[in-house]
Amino acid sequence: MTEKKIEVLLSELTLKEKIRMVHGDGLFRTGAVERLGIPSLKFSDGPIGVRQEFENDYWIPLGNSDDYVTYNPCSSAVAATWNRKLAYEAGKTLGEEARGRGKDIILAPGINIKRVPVCGRNFEYMSEDPYLTGQVAVPMIRGIQETDVAACVKHFALNNQETERLWVNVEIEERALREIYLPAFEAAVKEGKVLSLMGAYNLFRGVHCCENKMLLEDILRKEWGFDGMVVSDWGAVHHTEAAGEVPVDVEMSVTDNYDDYYMANPLLAAIQEGRVTEDALDKKVKNILRLMLRLKMIDIRTEGNKKDCSLSEEKADANQAGTVMAVNRTDRAPGCYNTKNHQQTALEIARESIVLLKNEEERLPLKPEKLRKLLVIGDNAERLHASGGGSAEIKALYEISPLMGIKTQLGGNCQVTFARGYYVAPKDVSIEVNWQKTSIDEEKAEDNRMESREKNDQATVAKQKELRDEAVRLASQADEVILIGGLNHDYDVEGADRVDMSLPYAQDELICAVLEARPDAVIVIKAGSPVSMERWMDSAKAIVWDWYSGMEGGNALAEVLFGKVNPSGKLPESIPCRLSDIRTVSLEEYPGVLLTEKEKEKMSAHLTECYQEGIFVGYRYYEKYGIPTQFCFGHGLSYTTFAYHNLSVKREQTPKKKEQSVWVFLEVENTGNVEGKETVQIYVGKENPGVNEPVKQLGGFEKISLKPGEKEIIRILLQPLVFSCWDTEKNGFSVVPGKYRISVGSSLKDIRLSCQLEI
Ligand code: BGC
Repeated sequence: MTEKKIEVLLSELTLKEKIRMVHGDGLFRTGAVERLGIPSLKFSDGPIGVRQEFENDYWIPLGNSDDYVTYNPCSSAVAATWNRKLAYEAGKTLGEEARGRGKDIILAPGINIKRVPVCGRNFEYMSEDPYLTGQVAVPMIRGIQETDVAACVKHFALNNQETERLWVNVEIEERALREIYLPAFEAAVKEGKVLSLMGAYNLFRGVHCCENKMLLEDILRKEWGFDGMVVSDWGAVHHTEAAGEVPVDVEMSVTDNYDDYYMANPLLAAIQEGRVTEDALDKKVKNILRLMLRLKMIDIRTEGNKKDCSLSEEKADANQAGTVMAVNRTDRAPGCYNTKNHQQTALEIARESIVLLKNEEERLPLKPEKLRKLLVIGDNAERLHASGGGSAEIKALYEISPLMGIKTQLGGNCQVTFARGYYVAPKDVSIEVNWQKTSIDEEKAEDNRMESREKNDQATVAKQKELRDEAVRLASQADEVILIGGLNHDYDVEGADRVDMSLPYAQDELICAVLEARPDAVIVIKAGSPVSMERWMDSAKAIVWDWYSGMEGGNALAEVLFGKVNPSGKLPESIPCRLSDIRTVSLEEYPGVLLTEKEKEKMSAHLTECYQEGIFVGYRYYEKYGIPTQFCFGHGLSYTTFAYHNLSVKREQTPKKKEQSVWVFLEVENTGNVEGKETVQIYVGKENPGVNEPVKQLGGFEKISLKPGEKEIIRILLQPLVFSCWDTEKNGFSVVPGKYRISVGSSLKDIRLSCQLEI
């Protein structure tokens, strides 16, 4: 029925009208066809909330008072909750707010794999593990799309670094592509039923992703059956013929010369001259109309008749006489923004996202009753983060800083002193305004590298020392000291990667000096990607990992520090010791090798990045080569303890698919004194893994809440992929028979029970 309607409306459209629909006619909207009632599609970024309004044609914020929104914790934080329900709620907030702001498509979630710890956009992504990414992304997509707004998973595919993001060509073996980089996208399409997807900036095997037939046609459309809409990243299309002939449905970009976009007048000419078929254009328009119908943006009817145009053959004949129109539907969800519910959801996600990395001698939680003098050190205690990071920036309705959270939690009986501790130079605002436009400028791409971010001149060094000395001096006078440092969106930012994993702004010196004065100081690191803690992690007794954790982040952190909330976040990525521990970096493969003159003739790239580590990404790599990490994947402590008992494994044949499913059963008990949540993780690996086999892979997980003394039997279904491997000859996954070890634990390294299973 829907397809028929679409065909009928399509046949009414002129070539020029169709062209109008497939490219931007504003920075965040497509062209409308008013004659037939077809509206523009309205987009908005992004993963942490709905972005502020811009001028239609310029990257100039309108400065309105009505586009403040709920600020959700970043996607890494959502992943750190390991809580599918919260991921769904995060999606629901995003969807409702997008709809409330009149948007059709929210450009989120970002589900690229965190391949290198220094990628500037890691905070927008979820994990280094494809299964965990999919498990968080799917409910988030469902949450968004229940609100008549389309999620748009991005950036398809292999957009795993920001350095030269438009001009880096990714070469990767098929197996790693299929086992690591594509599964989350596949889950988004098949399980999440995502309605739209964004093509990435980079090249894949010599062809830009938005023009890439293998990615967008062979895999996405044919293999996975995606019939939603593909939009280019902003400025990611480079050739009319390649983009016109099927792959991408809508071209968006960053400049206001809309008629000159590759898929505007140049596409019109290409079709008129027979270089691109009109059939290819029709496919794009159909994908767009299908999306509009699914979002209840329009219905398709015969004018004057008000009846569904595609009900019967006679009706179709009758249409010959009347004009078929797109008409507004009245039953589309209206959405809402800045509700108390959304703020509550942001708080709940933030609470469960905080990861207690280390807690020797039960340093935490701090006891607020006895506290009279508290010293809070660190720029991040006071810094607000919502408005940074690139296209993920938003205007938060409010943002509770850690310092505010701590003060409101403690009340007036405790004197809270703040010492900045390290100096962050104010931003040059003139660079910011046109950031989005210049970020994709070919010549300027190099300037976006990180090297120049921080000044190391004498004046800065002196300032750092002054702030450090002040912090150390005050530290000895306080009952307790909390140091809140880490990164900010000068570092966790779109368009640039960090050059290394070290803490900026002389923070290592600061933390060492404070710990020397106060060995009991609590260290909080707030960041969206790993930092090196080598210089001080052994001397610190308590280390807490906090993310860009949304508008309620400061409250959540204070609740954890003072024991009102028992931390339950688990790292969705490893925190390696140093950057050189990562193979791709140690071999100088990252960020890519300059193209030879010959290669340049074949493709429009600057660099080629070979993913030579194959499937050994993140923990798969550290496990394989026995490389220690600062904190392993899945790690996260609690104020209580859990015991695991009675592991058993059961196989079931699913009658329909004739696939074997493996269920794991065990009992978990809260053996401590406070209520807490535990994420039980199951890792699967061959008893004797071959050279090309991972030692362990995440096969399933479940988060449960238990009161002191309480026990619960849980069952976890293992994902079939952990027993399979990509078979290039078959062009599909094949089960790998053999003896497997099923390891159950509280993190990758903290395995409590295990058993063998023969497949
Ligand atoms: C980013 C996308 C974003 C788009 C629109 C691009 O620079 O890569 O993630 O959705 O801009 O703002």
